[in-house]
Amino acid sequence: MTDTTPHQPTTLFTLPDGPRTASRYDFLLGGKDNLHDDRASAAALTAAFPDIGVAAHELRRFMHRAVRYLVAEAGVRQLVDVGVGMPKPPNVHEIAHQHAPDTRVVYVDHDPIVMAHARALLVPGDGCAPIGYLEADLRDPHGILASPAITGLDHDQPVGLLILAVLHFIPDDERPADLVRALLDGLPPGSHVAISHTTFDPLPAGVRAKLDALPPGRHGTFQARTFDQVAALVDGLDLIPPGLVPISHWRPDLNDDGDELAVPAQAAGYAVIARTPSAIRTPGRGSRNTGPAQRPAQPVSLPQPQEARS
Ligand SMILES: C[S@@+](CC[C@H](N)C(=O)[O-])C[C@H]1O[C@@H](n2cnc3c(N)ncnc32)[C@H](O)[C@@H]1O
Repeated sequence: MTDTTPHQPTTLFTLPDGPRTASRYDFLLGGKDNLHDDRASAAALTAAFPDIGVAAHELRRFMHRAVRYLVAEAGVRQLVDVGVGMPKPPNVHEIAHQHAPDTRVVYVDHDPIVMAHARALLVPGDGCAPIGYLEADLRDPHGILASPAITGLDHDQPVGLLILAVLHFIPDDERPADLVRALLDGLPPGSHVAISHTTFDPLPAGVRAKLDALPPGRHGTFQARTFDQVAALVDGLDLIPPGLVPISHWRPDLNDDGDELAVPAQAAGYAVIARTPSAIRTPGRGSRNTGPAQRPAQPVSLPQPQEARS
């Protein structure tokens, strides 16, 4: 018998008004998963800070290096990526599985559109470990920790927690350091956290003034932080060398001659990978290559972009 029931459209999600951080970032990275409001917001930010595209690319490049470090050098086999962003190869699981196909990855984001893309496109290749997906908010760390995606991980082995280009969307009154610590407290000892964070520290006064003059609320909540404010996010943790540094200086890629690739002066970000004390040491894996934990005694002076560009 033919079903004559009229088809009821299903609302998967409602597109919010205004820019979405994931799609604006996608646009700044040269992607196509963005809408008019995302592009308009990116254009306004670019008018204030012409090198914001460079900054976005440096954030993404740190993700590549952080995953490579965690999996290939630190021996981590479980990654929880909070704040996934729109897919842009190489994605976290692709880098991880290139080095260790048994790496379990859990993708977490509060944006249902991001998670829809993740479920459809961020899928493991043949023979690789399954991927978990969780629509959740970083501001609810206990909800994240209680989810089956996280409780299903091996709690006898360390986790690599990625919080990359996300914490600048959490204002101080939402206590970002406490959120990081709450997540780490619920993960096995010896777990790592990788953080990248936008800063205005190296920006010329003219650029800062233009960014500060942007209409509040139109571009979403955003809080750039100083070196000391980012350091507070990893207070009490063991910092993996080189510690908390300007983002392009965190173990930069080398060219074919073994020289560091040129560091863009416009990369307005900090990066750090830290580890909770009392690491579980797994023979042949783990913290062997990380060297002693260290913390820079002085704020690092960042290269100055050319004032003429502001
Ligand atoms: C700029 S993208 C970063 C993507 C990726 N981590 C990277 O470094 O390339 C920020 C992502 O964080 C997500 N995000 C922002 N605030 C969040 C929150 N409170 N909880 C979970 N995800 C959040 C956004 O939806 C977006 O996908």
